[in-house]
Amino acid sequence: ALPIIIDCDPGIDDTIALLVAFVSPEFNVLGITPVCGNQPLERTMRNTLQICELGGRSDVPVYAGCFRPLLRDPIHGQFHGKTGLGNTVLPDPVKMAEEKSAVDFMIESFEAAAVNGQRITVCCLGPLTNIAVALRMKPTIAHGIERVVMMGGAYREPGNRTMTSEFNVLADPHAAHIVFSSGIPIVALALDATHQVILTPSHVTRFAAVSGRISKPLSELMAFWDRNDVRRYGSRGGPLHDPLVIAYLLAPQLFEAQKARVFVEHESELCMGQTIADWYGKSGLEPNADIIVKVNADGVIDLFLDRLSRYAQE
Ligand code: BDR
Ligand code: CA
Repeated sequence: ALPIIIDCDPGIDDTIALLVAFVSPEFNVLGITPVCGNQPLERTMRNTLQICELGGRSDVPVYAGCFRPLLRDPIHGQFHGKTGLGNTVLPDPVKMAEEKSAVDFMIESFEAAAVNGQRITVCCLGPLTNIAVALRMKPTIAHGIERVVMMGGAYREPGNRTMTSEFNVLADPHAAHIVFSSGIPIVALALDATHQVILTPSHVTRFAAVSGRISKPLSELMAFWDRNDVRRYGSRGGPLHDPLVIAYLLAPQLFEAQKARVFVEHESELCMGQTIADWYGKSGLEPNADIIVKVNADGVIDLFLDRLSRYAQE
């Protein structure tokens, strides 16, 4: 199985991503590293521990990530409700977080992998603070990283938090700059990709019908995710951002990528957090990312239906 670390900030779409990953035997989930993002760290930690229990995966260790972004003040998500999980109330977690910090866990895991001639894939579903700090502490950990598959950024699409910027990159643009400058191979699932996969009310009904014991919380979360604004977005529903990272690893044939050098704006006030792709090689620098430009949305929805229906078989 593919060894992965899931770096996240649950978050409704993070939750769906975790639930899909938990029932996918293709993965060996080494650990989960919540970070300050959609909610303050205390909350993303609590949510993660609850989601592990909901998914029947209390065996997966959870390590607390960074309390704050590198330089900027924290910002939090706007579409995930007060707790980050919509109106869904999950039981208090019994499971405890590990003592070790996320950054130490990452460094130790990547170093151990490198020693054994292996590499770990990092799935980034939130601001990139944890991996950036780990890279600053020990740049050589890059040798133990297969690649970073991240949800974040907006290339040909406008931003979703500001005119130019997507939330995860805007929430820690300096961290994103560090990761894109690290030389680690990056697959970028930006808004250009995630806006192609809209979870509609009829999808929600289908997910509710197949997902067995998690049906109630799953359909509540999915229903909350509907942006309910046909006038602005042209349809009902909400983009399935974070789960696309997991889908990409499970079924890369459903995705089309274009290589480009990516730059992250981390100085300008107007364009803070903008991700800029050098599509035409103006910079003279080698590409540092595979940017997903096209997604087979029906294929992805079918994949998620198949995976989440496994909760009915338990
Ligand atoms: C990203 O921002 C967060 O609110 C979501 O969880 C997702 O990771 C989308 O811009
Ligand atoms: Ca997220």
